[in-house]
Amino acid sequence: MTIRTDFIEEAWTELEKSIIRYRGEPVGTVAARDPSIEALNYDQCFTRDFAVSAVAFLLRGDTDIVRNFLNVLADLQSRDKHLDCFRPGRGLMPASFAVESRDGEEVLLPDFGEHAIARVPPVDSGFWWLILLRAYTKRTGDTSLAGSAKFQQAIRLILELCIASRFDMYPTMLVPDGSYMIDRRMGVHGYPFDIQTLFHAGLCAAQELLAEDDEYQSAIKERLGHLSYHIRRYFWLDFQRLNEIYRYRVEEYGRDILNAFNIYPESIPGWVMGWIPSRGGYFAGNLGPGRMDFRFFAQGNLMAAVTSLADAEQASAIMDLIEQRWNDLIGEMPVKLCFPALEAQDWRTITGADPKNSAWSYHNGGNWPFLLWLTAAAAVRTGREELAERALETAASRLATAQWAEYFDGRDGRLVGKEARAFQTWTIAGVLGAHEILRHPELVELFSFEENAAVACSVSMDEV
Ligand code: GLC
Repeated sequence: MTIRTDFIEEAWTELEKSIIRYRGEPVGTVAARDPSIEALNYDQCFTRDFAVSAVAFLLRGDTDIVRNFLNVLADLQSRDKHLDCFRPGRGLMPASFAVESRDGEEVLLPDFGEHAIARVPPVDSGFWWLILLRAYTKRTGDTSLAGSAKFQQAIRLILELCIASRFDMYPTMLVPDGSYMIDRRMGVHGYPFDIQTLFHAGLCAAQELLAEDDEYQSAIKERLGHLSYHIRRYFWLDFQRLNEIYRYRVEEYGRDILNAFNIYPESIPGWVMGWIPSRGGYFAGNLGPGRMDFRFFAQGNLMAAVTSLADAEQASAIMDLIEQRWNDLIGEMPVKLCFPALEAQDWRTITGADPKNSAWSYHNGGNWPFLLWLTAAAAVRTGREELAERALETAASRLATAQWAEYFDGRDGRLVGKEARAFQTWTIAGVLGAHEILRHPELVELFSFEENAAVACSVSMDEV
């Protein structure tokens, strides 16, 4: 791999400049430092953005900032049970927080989505917190933080919110549109795959972190088994599976049926027929009643390969797909967030005609370098390091001159994003995370999980 050391050194310097302090201690990083655009909330610490900074810091051995962040988030977690619909539900962790000065004293101000555009709730925050807490514990060997009464309670509150009460009867998790990294309307409501992978990783982390005799342990084990089985069996798409769906019988009633979700073959979009290579596969973007979203979402697929939500064969097939469809999924700047873009009438109806999410821009088919660390982790897990090295080299050749832009536009990601900010922290941290993982592949275990024994003995939805 030929990455210039001064490029990596510059990235560390920029990452360090983004650190936020609270009462003298480092507690997070700002989302971006672009002097040319109004900050809005980009001067705050976003939970999902900091997760990428934390990956870089943990890999380098800087664990204090991560511990402080974990503490701050546990303090800010919504804890009161209230029926006021305008208040965050108990267990929710904030999308972001700011440090402000009140009467000469610093205070932390959380945002649970109340101030966000379109008021979207951050379903992913609690999962990132769990994933980081587990990585911190593994990196430091310090089990006392996770084992403290405060942290055990915080873990239980997240679980209560996610698994205790619900309307639906699938193992997957039902969420509103735009409730995670994609925080605008994009047709990612229902059972978006990206969220299911975070849910799965969050449950795996909680299983390790909660006391062995905790009453949630058996519920986690059972849910993990059903969830993995459901995802592997029903979300998976490769050429053979596509052919099965193409020949599906519909309107089947009862238990012993093949087309469990009543997917109409006519809903298979034209692009997917020629796009799925004969070698390679991926998990579909979404699956619900009468609905399969065939789009490829990178974060979930990479995450599934890292955390063993994908079985070994599926994980390799995901990397094969990336290799075979390199121009579409990596192109001139890694990594395509979602493929393909919604265009014309689909864009109008599914995004609500959102100009920021126009075709091949931003969430709608833009390219996001923050995903590099996950690409490296997935590559290491599947023994395909050369793919991540190639992707990192592509990014390195352009990122410093592109001032660490937030995202890139166009079918191949050649253009700096229409409204992209410069000096976007998770772009910088994504590069550093990838670089560190490729240098120290053994450290991928901070974020990976081994094959879950529970999967083997689980039963599918149509067998219960
Ligand atoms: C945008 C992204 C979101 C990110 C935030 C800060 O809103 O969609 O995922 O957390 O910017 O970078």
